[in-house]
Amino acid sequence: MNYLNKKSVEDIDVTGKRVLVRCDFNVPFDAQGNISDPKRINEALKTIKYLIDHKAKVILCSHLGRPKGEFNMKYSLAPVAAYLSKALGQEVKMASDVIGESAKSIAASLQDGEVELIENVRFHKEEEKNDPAFAKELASMADIYVNDAFGTAHRAHASTAGVAAYLPAVCGFLIQKEITIMGGALANPKRPFAAILGGAKVSDKIGVINNLLEKVDTLIVGGGMAYTFMNAMGYSVGSSLCETDKVDLAKDMMAKAKEKGVKFLIPIDNIVADKYAEDAAFQTVDSDKIPDGWMGLDIGPKTAQLFSDAIKGAGTVVWNGPMGVSEWKNFAGGTIAVAKAVAESGAISIIGGGDSAAAVEKLGYADKMTHISTGGGASLEFLEGLELPGIACLNDKE
Ligand code: 3PG
Repeated sequence: MNYLNKKSVEDIDVTGKRVLVRCDFNVPFDAQGNISDPKRINEALKTIKYLIDHKAKVILCSHLGRPKGEFNMKYSLAPVAAYLSKALGQEVKMASDVIGESAKSIAASLQDGEVELIENVRFHKEEEKNDPAFAKELASMADIYVNDAFGTAHRAHASTAGVAAYLPAVCGFLIQKEITIMGGALANPKRPFAAILGGAKVSDKIGVINNLLEKVDTLIVGGGMAYTFMNAMGYSVGSSLCETDKVDLAKDMMAKAKEKGVKFLIPIDNIVADKYAEDAAFQTVDSDKIPDGWMGLDIGPKTAQLFSDAIKGAGTVVWNGPMGVSEWKNFAGGTIAVAKAVAESGAISIIGGGDSAAAVEKLGYADKMTHISTGGGASLEFLEGLELPGIACLNDKE
């Protein structure tokens, strides 16, 4: 997989051409219907501005949410068009459909440097099925396809992969940035290379752990998934989340780490609670002393220190997944400590998208990190070493 050899918008003449750009505008909204985190839109601006400056006719497309193949105005991209119009300082023409009369007539009438946004591609069930006829319809509006939707690059859908069969297909600057930084760290990391994994389940991270064990010097495991490893070490974990069918696998992973000389750190103490609730009673206990009926909801202070010390000396740090239930104040301390340690480490720091990215942004450490990925599932699959169909489909440089 040599994604660094993929053609980008700079390798193709876009002037005067109709360019279909797949972005990931799948952004969160607040209760009032306002975009609550526009990071993904902002990260797409560089490619869009480049195309405007080079006098392309720009046709943007994206999904938003999971409308299950039906028109549903709750998932309309119209608020994104309004946001983009402001951010670009020019009108973004919002189509009322995806491949219908509205989308096609706007596309046909675009002048050089003008921008259209077609409706949510997932209003058609053919999108997620990667239906060739649907992909061909999308392609029929354009001369060139640019994929800049890193967050959706792990999906083989019509607008993320299928369409590349019908048009010259290149990547945008966001995909280029994501694969250069994350790919570079995996292929040629500044050492020591430490990875921090958290989140609820081991089963979600098996592939990532296996791939990273081949590359890192230190693997740090926190979050709900750590209790399966503690159980594998023979500790009783009370009512903590524990995937009993993964305990043998956890043993194998720790044995593999030992064999490869990878330092494998799991929590030595924990904040345990008497129930899974924000206002639960809680106490700090060592990992071999979790009382029956109590559940670990965060790493403890000794562990935060242990992890921080390991992060301090690293040359490269990759972090995916919170250390505890970080959205609840009493169980956020571990995630805060790790975020601080990564921010102050001076290492090349890469934050996988999703919850850890949200925590870093909320805590105000975002500008201290080398790179915060716009992909949740996509960055995880990238770290797993899996092929990303939305990038694999793009044209290689000769
Ligand atoms: C994401 O938010 O991870 C991407 O936009 C992909 O969305 P999906 O999981 O609904 O495919």
